[in-house]
Amino acid sequence: MAGFTLLTTKITDESKMKKIVILISGRGSNMEAILNANLPVAIAAVISNEPDAKGLATAQARNIPTAVVPHRAFTNREDFDGVLAMEINRYQPDFIVLAGFMRVLTEEFAERYSGRMINIHPSLLPSFPGLHTHQRALEAGVRVHGCTVHFVTPGVDIGPIIVQAVVPVPAGVDEDTLATRVLAEEHRIYPQAVRWLCEGRVQLVDGAVVYDRIAPACGGVISPALDE
Ligand code: GAR
Repeated sequence: MAGFTLLTTKITDESKMKKIVILISGRGSNMEAILNANLPVAIAAVISNEPDAKGLATAQARNIPTAVVPHRAFTNREDFDGVLAMEINRYQPDFIVLAGFMRVLTEEFAERYSGRMINIHPSLLPSFPGLHTHQRALEAGVRVHGCTVHFVTPGVDIGPIIVQAVVPVPAGVDEDTLATRVLAEEHRIYPQAVRWLCEGRVQLVDGAVVYDRIAPACGGVISPALDE
């Protein structure tokens, strides 16, 4: 029988892709990790509260629409969040991805996008919410540190946890080294979490994270390594 080769072309139908809007405030390295992951996701826009955010130029260089909603132009959080929501909604995204977005959001804003908005934070939440997480982790003498992706609920760096990565804290490690190691893990887990979300493999149901087609983790991390 004569053999034949079936040639298949991978067709990416953009109209079927989930749409995300990414919010940033600065460097935008997590945003870039998401862009570099070439996920089957449409990046509708990148929005910043800081006009000088470096990540805006990165997005523009890739022809991604950008917008700035400068928080300093508003006298209260409610007004800022209202305009931010209007700007987000222009793109009709399925999900909102906070990638180093350093504004405290109102309860109303968090609830408006409940189950549709995720955040990354550079600590193993619920430890060390807020700022200076690496310095505080070192001061606390923790032996493991890391990063967390979570659904956003009202409050600061709080909400049902989707995925965490653990980084050992060797004795004597300095803050910059620790920050670099955690950031590398952020860049690994955030694109993965965005993929899960957009593929419907992770959902927020009645306030809890429900997984579908995601292998449960096993094993563990021990730091420092134990002598055998
Ligand atoms: C990241 O480390 C992110 O986890 C953190 O800001 C940094 C932004 O870096 N976010 C928070 O602290 C949120 N509470 P990036 O702009 O290079 O992605």
